[in-house]
Amino acid sequence: MVKRYAVILAAGQGTRMKSKLYKVLHPVCGKPMVQHVVDQVSQLRLEKLITVVGFGAEQVKAQIGDKSEFALQEEQLGTAHAVMQAAPYLQDKEGLTLVVCGDTPLITAETMKALLEHHLATCAKATILTAIAENPTGYGRIIRNNNGHVEKIVEHKDATEEERAIKEVNTGTYCFDNQSLFEALTKVSNDNAQKEYYLTDVIEILKAKGEIVSAYQAPSFEETIGVNDRVALSQAEKMMRERINRQHMINGVTIIDPEHTYISPEAEIGRDTVIYPGTVIEGKTVIGEECIIGPHSEIKNCSIGNGTTIRHSVAHDSEIGHNVTIGPFAHIRPSSKIDDEVRIGNFVEIKKSTFGKGSKASHLSYIGDAEVGADVNLGCGSITVNYDGKHKYLTKIEDGAFIGCNANLIAPVTIGKGAYVAAGSTITDDVPGNALSIARARQVNKENYVDRLNAKKKS
Ligand code: UD1
Ligand code: CA
Repeated sequence: MVKRYAVILAAGQGTRMKSKLYKVLHPVCGKPMVQHVVDQVSQLRLEKLITVVGFGAEQVKAQIGDKSEFALQEEQLGTAHAVMQAAPYLQDKEGLTLVVCGDTPLITAETMKALLEHHLATCAKATILTAIAENPTGYGRIIRNNNGHVEKIVEHKDATEEERAIKEVNTGTYCFDNQSLFEALTKVSNDNAQKEYYLTDVIEILKAKGEIVSAYQAPSFEETIGVNDRVALSQAEKMMRERINRQHMINGVTIIDPEHTYISPEAEIGRDTVIYPGTVIEGKTVIGEECIIGPHSEIKNCSIGNGTTIRHSVAHDSEIGHNVTIGPFAHIRPSSKIDDEVRIGNFVEIKKSTFGKGSKASHLSYIGDAEVGADVNLGCGSITVNYDGKHKYLTKIEDGAFIGCNANLIAPVTIGKGAYVAAGSTITDDVPGNALSIARARQVNKENYVDRLNAKKKS
């Protein structure tokens, strides 16, 4: 098999984004653009992947990690100059090299594979991935001769009125014969509107040498969109969202309103789960089968079992079991572990706590740094008092304990198995198993007090 290499261009600042964040790090559906590209390109069985970095090099490298090798482009003199930086890794190699821009987050491995096949089938030295754009403004235009063969690519800024009317654009993805590419790159000049070394000039250079240059049209323009500003970013976001949601629906997930459902590319969702509008599922979240999620819920990096319902709630970095009910208006904060059949009701905040099977906190509670056993009932308004202003302390509530309404459990403290805590108690000491603890002032009724008070007022 012909050896395959790839170069991803990711050194530009992205001036048109008007951002402190380097362009290729802007997220699309929660994942940086360049990471989308790397993840797709990595599916192509490559000998080597080189990412050209420059602006924000350290951040871009940290994002991509060991999936790629890196070449540094110290000055951003154009896309041809960027590819040149990969010469020390590639220039002598025999094989073909795919070049992809780091700002085309929707490009798929499938289309790149089709491009490679077309390239090999046509015995070309260069094959351009083109697309038909409704509005081609900003893109390089594909100039074809009378026979329909590609002659050159003209950048928007350098194009004549007539050329600007052409709707076939350069997507910024190409396949080259590796050695022809690096040889042609040495001949590129910066004699153009932007005073940049354009990679697109390689096409004309190869043509002049009598080499075959071919073009492969992408099945849709959408997939090849280049993100240069925030308008394109929002378009990419919408298209990626549609792609992700569609795949989940095909897999058997019901999404009531896909236009208003935001799912990360890393999320996994089981069959017959129903996602209601306004739901945001971020990071590496795994949701089981037959769950009901939303409306209006935010779930990040959680694993959720089967048959669980989460309505109008927020859950981050936590494990949630099967047949759990959460919300409306609950907040599950990081490092919580909620076992099967637990019920977390409205206005309940859980932080770094475990809940055993079948336990309940149905209304208005704060449970932080707690180990709650199985079948525990936390009454309305139960609070773990876990913080003294300096340190956090643990509350243990053992299996079957019953905590009355409005109890404060001042940590560190343990409530033993099956114990009862009376409503309104402020518990400062451990409660033994099966005990009843009442920690509140006794009630005093002053008979006829109001009559005496009124009599006093009159006299
Ligand atoms: C480029 C193409 C244009 C094509 C469009 C597709 C050129 C000259 N033009 O234009 O024909 O229609 O992509 O989206 O290639 N980069 C570097 N170093 C540089 C300059 C750019 O690494 O010195 C990187 C950028 O980070 C970016 C990519 O190359 O990821 C493309 O650069 P950009 O400036 O966005 O090119 P366009 O003007 O969009
Ligand atoms: Ca671009």
